[in-house]
Amino acid sequence: MNTAALDQDFSQLRVAVLGAGKMGGILLQAFLKQQMLAPGQLVATVAHADRAAALSAQWGVEVLTDNVAAARAADVILIGVKPFQVPALMAEIKPALTPQKLLVSFAASVKTGAIEDAAGIDVPVIRAMPNTPSALGAGIAALCRGRFVSEAQMALASRMFEAVGRTVIVDEKHMDAVTGLSASGPAFIYIILESLAEAGVKVGLPRDIATLLAAQTTFGAAKMVLETGYHPALLKDAVTTPAGCTIDGILELEDGGLRVTLIKAVMRASQRAKELAAG
Ligand SMILES: NC(=O)c1ccc[n+]([C@@H]2O[C@H](COP(=O)([O-])OP(=O)(O)OC[C@H]3O[C@@H](n4cnc5c(N)ncnc54)[C@H](OP(=O)(O)O)[C@@H]3O)[C@@H](O)[C@H]2O)c1
Repeated sequence: MNTAALDQDFSQLRVAVLGAGKMGGILLQAFLKQQMLAPGQLVATVAHADRAAALSAQWGVEVLTDNVAAARAADVILIGVKPFQVPALMAEIKPALTPQKLLVSFAASVKTGAIEDAAGIDVPVIRAMPNTPSALGAGIAALCRGRFVSEAQMALASRMFEAVGRTVIVDEKHMDAVTGLSASGPAFIYIILESLAEAGVKVGLPRDIATLLAAQTTFGAAKMVLETGYHPALLKDAVTTPAGCTIDGILELEDGGLRVTLIKAVMRASQRAKELAAG
């Protein structure tokens, strides 16, 4: 099948997930659960034969250790191995590639150009950066295109990542920033959440209730931003009554440098992503 001219009908599409580990497994299971793809349309690979057998039994999908066979059988090839393993994987599957196939890599920091060069042909390559809340369908993935990608292929890749959350399309130059913000971001938010729960304990709440209050408050605040479309500052102002409690809390946050600390955290994580990309 020529993926360049694909319409919205995926019933004939064959998809390979090369490196079906944590993130690859999340995607594959979402495709199945949402009936986007039938088990017969999917093939996956892992490094270890015993894991392949166990996953095949668990998912009801063919799971191999032979990347070339999987790549040959597929129209869309998802690359889910660790970044340092991508060059060897590309060298391995090179004979199976054609310009009609679509490569979608979600290996952190690996550039589309590096994959195109390794392929040695004008093969379409899309790079994606998902995050761990994808496991619950609440992820966000940023996608960027290589040199040979059609609109239909971009739409197809977006649809695939929408199976595990939202998607945005960005220029490749922004992918390190995305890594620092939304891929590392869950860790930053967990620390904020843990601290809020700790604060609840400090002011006398049982820990389980404090954690629930902190988590649901974080969730609710994020939902307000996403669904009202209001600027976060406007929503913050609506909570902050004159001479009330919240403004006293905000004073402490500003005094403690929370804003600057978060900005620096994302900057540092983005910088590290850039370094990893440089090898
Ligand atoms: N986890 C995340 O939140 C996240 C977010 C964004 C991007 N990513 C990217 O996703 C990629 C995978 O991360 P992960 O967390 O899912 O790692 P992981 O769980 O370790 O998955 C890697 C998988 O690759 C398999 N593998 C290793 N060498 C292989 C080979 N030569 N051929 C076929 N399969 C091979 C491994 O097989 P075995 O199981 O047999 O060892 C494993 O299943 C990374 O490039 C990472 O940058 C991950």
